[in-house]
Amino acid sequence: MKTVRVLGNGVVIVGAQFGDEGKGKIVDVLAEKVDIIARYQGGANAGHTIVVDGKTFKFRLMPSGLIRSKRSLICAGVVMDPKVAVTELEGLFNGGISIGPSLLGIDLRAHVVLPWHKVIDAARQANKEIGTTGNGIGPAYEDSASRTGLRFIEFVDQSKLERRVREIGTSKNHALKSLVASGGTPVPIPETESVILEYSVLARKLKPFLCDASAEINQSLLEGKKVLFEGAQGTHLDESFGTYPFVTSSHPIAGGACIGAGVAPHSITQVHGVAKAYTTRVGGGPLPTEFEEEMGETIVKKGHEFGTVTGRKRRVGWFDACMLRRSQQLNGFDCLHITKIDVLEGIKTLKIAIGYKIEDGSTTQLMPADISLLHNAVPVYFETPGFEELGEEGWAKIVSQAISSGLDALPKHALNFIRKIEDEVGVQVASVSVGPQRHQILWAKNFSVNYKLL
Ligand code: IMP
Repeated sequence: MKTVRVLGNGVVIVGAQFGDEGKGKIVDVLAEKVDIIARYQGGANAGHTIVVDGKTFKFRLMPSGLIRSKRSLICAGVVMDPKVAVTELEGLFNGGISIGPSLLGIDLRAHVVLPWHKVIDAARQANKEIGTTGNGIGPAYEDSASRTGLRFIEFVDQSKLERRVREIGTSKNHALKSLVASGGTPVPIPETESVILEYSVLARKLKPFLCDASAEINQSLLEGKKVLFEGAQGTHLDESFGTYPFVTSSHPIAGGACIGAGVAPHSITQVHGVAKAYTTRVGGGPLPTEFEEEMGETIVKKGHEFGTVTGRKRRVGWFDACMLRRSQQLNGFDCLHITKIDVLEGIKTLKIAIGYKIEDGSTTQLMPADISLLHNAVPVYFETPGFEELGEEGWAKIVSQAISSGLDALPKHALNFIRKIEDEVGVQVASVSVGPQRHQILWAKNFSVNYKLL
């Protein structure tokens, strides 16, 4: 018997915090070295900002690799909003980038986000407390789990689309009426026939992209091609292992790549984590290292900490090694990419949470699973002197020095900060970003872009 076992050449890029770590930039940089980029979970709730030659691209749904003109796949684990998909494709077209089916593929199994999902998301009181992005993500995944959703393969078949949207519309509109009654405020009820008309047009535009992404990735891996699995959101927004219920409804953690893209665990040879040099979170939920207001405002301004999708101001706090240790357990990072260290320039004293004092008076080094403990956790900080303000020119000089000296090119105290993160989390830092542009990055000497797979 001949055994066919797909091995290796898969790298997963995972957010190590609460999303918005700067994954888009890291994916964009690493995408140059791979053949396929596969987005494995989430939907239009994600926000990737990529700056190329001074031009800013913002994606919510499209894999970041499209900018590199690499085969980019929206996998089965993604909830696909056709309106956003078409808007992003048209935006790219208007910016001079034409995307055809040889570049983009959408898995036939991906679930389609419909207007009802967004209306339900917006209407639910609990979702308001969580601060969802309002993109219908939770309701769309609910329909997937309850086997009542609309998959992409049905969506692009006109007669199935009509039949299924009528079924869905009837049952959702019935449910929406009771939501109106309990919430008190009227909920806009989508009109089924208008949805059919509008979504039929979208379906015709997207039909050429229909593919079996899982089969394609497996075949490509078998042929020795390199695949980058692009995670959205972050580890602590994972539906099972995040700060539930303040989480998203999918699995951003590395294991989610197997389920979302339809590949075997041994297809993945590397996991890269991405973390900001501080912590941010949008929406509700615990953030133990959250800054006092004044410091928060400074970092929000300097780091442009506003959500790509909703424009909401992000909550900000110190780097949290307790959280990262947990991320390391869940994902098994081979390396970390630390982003936005430049935002911390000029701060007199930098802090890293290395433990939490919890309610019973004990101290823990690991983020507790019980969210009530986390809500009241008091961080134990390591403090270290900050580094001077360098400005764009100063950072540019450091980036050029890093070509020969790697991370040693960083100001002494910035390097100490990075080394402390490595020690506390137990993972090597592969790169440090000092600005949003592709080139504004320092690579560790012994961990260059060409490391192992790349
Ligand atoms: P949902 O994913 O829209 O259901 O939102 C659930 C929670 O995840 C909310 O707190 C959102 O703010 C958060 N969230 C979802 N997507 C992202 C993201 O890409 N970055 C940061 N937070 C996100």
